[in-house]
Amino acid sequence: MITPFTLTENDILIFLDQRRLPWEEVTFPASTAQDVAWAIREMVVRGAPAIGIAAAIGLYLSIKDYQKDDREGLLYTIQGAKELLASTRPTAVNLFWALDRIENVALTSHLPGQKLKMRLRAEAIRIWEEDVNANKRMGALGAGLFASPATVLTHCNAGALATGGYGTALGVIRALYDRGMLKMALVSETRPLLQGARLTAWELWKEGIPYRLVTDNMGGYLMAKGMVDAVVVGADRIAANGDVANKIGTYALSVLAERHGVPFYVVAPTSTIDLSTPSGEHIPIEERPEQEVTTIRDTRICPRGTKALNPAFDVTPSELVTAIVTEKGVARPIYSETLPPLWEEP
Ligand code: MRU
Repeated sequence: MITPFTLTENDILIFLDQRRLPWEEVTFPASTAQDVAWAIREMVVRGAPAIGIAAAIGLYLSIKDYQKDDREGLLYTIQGAKELLASTRPTAVNLFWALDRIENVALTSHLPGQKLKMRLRAEAIRIWEEDVNANKRMGALGAGLFASPATVLTHCNAGALATGGYGTALGVIRALYDRGMLKMALVSETRPLLQGARLTAWELWKEGIPYRLVTDNMGGYLMAKGMVDAVVVGADRIAANGDVANKIGTYALSVLAERHGVPFYVVAPTSTIDLSTPSGEHIPIEERPEQEVTTIRDTRICPRGTKALNPAFDVTPSELVTAIVTEKGVARPIYSETLPPLWEEP
């Protein structure tokens, strides 16, 4: 199974460096919370659930070499590492959800220092395992929404690389393929960082799942030609009213899907639902460096000195979302009523 990282027995978190895919498969070993924070910030690892799991392990790494048995010192160290890890990327709520979950265990379990360390390690691994199980469940639930073989358009990478393994939106595509229900996956390239072309295409290519790479501006043409049966995407944060923050370009696809009567499915674990954020306008949208837009792999693609905009995510209003597939079931509008029963506290 493709995974974004592995954890060695002596606690080195080895990331597959996603910045270098598909050209080379190189790894980045992280042994401290600082290393993990750097990997998230630089997008060595990316994708909402994957950065949550990595941060949880990073929080454990912050105390793994703590020698004294004083609880106060340990909790203080956790606090500092949590702040650092939380400052890496603002949009995906899974990051904060996972950090809260590890911190809560530290605060509420009355274990002595050395035992607490092992408890936090186990909790981080549990978050990882739960994510993989959730993805498989969502794959099955999502595939169940299709009555006949389908061509599915996906955006960005919501695959194994973006999660603990298997993927959310790409998990549905995997499940469709396994059931003989996938005609074709259409993979939008996802400028500026090309997560679709580089990562989603790589995953599908590795597993022999049929796909075509399309540019980000082809969606309208393809839908107008009847070449798309459904759009299936992941999410970075789902607000209480069902508004969905996901990779920039998702909103445009949702508008096109509505115009052409194509179902628009969002696939995300309940850890992506943020009931404390009432609607999409309250979701912090990450702004990334201009240079990601003005260059492709360090080659400038516009006149020298060109200024660019680079919001990394956009918000799809809930009324354009046909259904939200979670591991606990498929939510349909009205989301402010159907999401709360699915959500789980960290
Ligand atoms: O900037 P990225 O690559 O971290 O953005 C990733 C996405 O937008 C994914 O669609 C989202 O995190 C869901 S991953 C299962």
